[in-house]
Amino acid sequence: MKIGMLTGGGDCPGLNAVIRAVVRKGVFHYKDQFVGFLEGWRGLLENKTMVLDLSTVGGILPRGGTILRTSRTNPSKHPGGIEQCAATLQKHQIEALIAIGGDDTLSVAQKLHEQGIRVVGVPKTIDNDLSGTDFTFGFDTACNVVCESIDRLHTTAEAHNRVMVVEVMGRDAGWIALYSGIAGGADAILIPERPFDLDKVAESIRQRHERGRYFSIVVVAEGAKFSPQAGGGSPVPQDMGKDEFGHAKLGGIANILAREIETRTGFETRAVVLGHIQRGGSPSAFDRVLATRYGLGAIDMIHRQEFGRMAALRSNKIVSIPLKEAIAKNRTVDQEMIEMVDGLFEEVADKEPA
Ligand code: F6P
Repeated sequence: MKIGMLTGGGDCPGLNAVIRAVVRKGVFHYKDQFVGFLEGWRGLLENKTMVLDLSTVGGILPRGGTILRTSRTNPSKHPGGIEQCAATLQKHQIEALIAIGGDDTLSVAQKLHEQGIRVVGVPKTIDNDLSGTDFTFGFDTACNVVCESIDRLHTTAEAHNRVMVVEVMGRDAGWIALYSGIAGGADAILIPERPFDLDKVAESIRQRHERGRYFSIVVVAEGAKFSPQAGGGSPVPQDMGKDEFGHAKLGGIANILAREIETRTGFETRAVVLGHIQRGGSPSAFDRVLATRYGLGAIDMIHRQEFGRMAALRSNKIVSIPLKEAIAKNRTVDQEMIEMVDGLFEEVADKEPA
């Protein structure tokens, strides 16, 4: 079979492991041929391709990024874009397409599927917020990077009696903040699912310092928001533009929080924005295995003719679920998890109304 493959959206460690697994099993077991489309959906719009064979996937397992490169191109935002994608596939006589991406990339895959294109999806997002699958690859690596950073920040925070506010990725979901905050022993974890009140955050830090600790670590997801009681909305002015899928470009919440925490507590506070360091570099062993399993699952799905579906991890098994289910909504941190993690922190009482 002649199969196309692309990676779309933000990159994450493990993409190359998926590509390698698909090509190896495709060549060794099914005698498939592959065409790589470059830079996500842009490759289909602009007919940008590369050869994908055993030699081009050689040595890529430990490499971060993606040999297919990626972009946030949305064909629906280009006149006749979806039809152009279909035409490019036809031109290359592609019989099936593997789209590796998050909800944006997979929503385009679903549109192509509705046009009769034979598509299989592989879930990818560093944020770990894709529905229908327990974990996405890249998330574990990101958590390891953040956890190591928190460990490092601990020693310098302790040396200087400082509060450190660490900003991590997570636009709509706080999985990275929560997991790395737990693993790194953070003193406050702020996530989009649980809007926060700065006065309470500052008070909890003050109480901790009263107990004899003289430094604190606050981990904040870039998409965290104020609680309705604290005025609601994002602390960050949303004026940095939007991508083709309509997502605001985030970043900067740690600087705002650091300033406010210092004003409220009087403790010297610094902000650290980890940014794209979380997405770069070599995948962890866990992510290499997970990404490989997804790739092997996807190529099998193609040969079982399970189109319009995505490979998913459920209870440590690779299964196939409808693309529609995966893109229906974000998988955010559930209330049960939030309440369990609350057990780690001292409760801060509401202030008496003045
Ligand atoms: O892909 C998800 C994500 O990593 C978000 O956590 C983050 O807000 C965004 O991508 C950053 O996007 P970009 O790489 O386009 O700056």
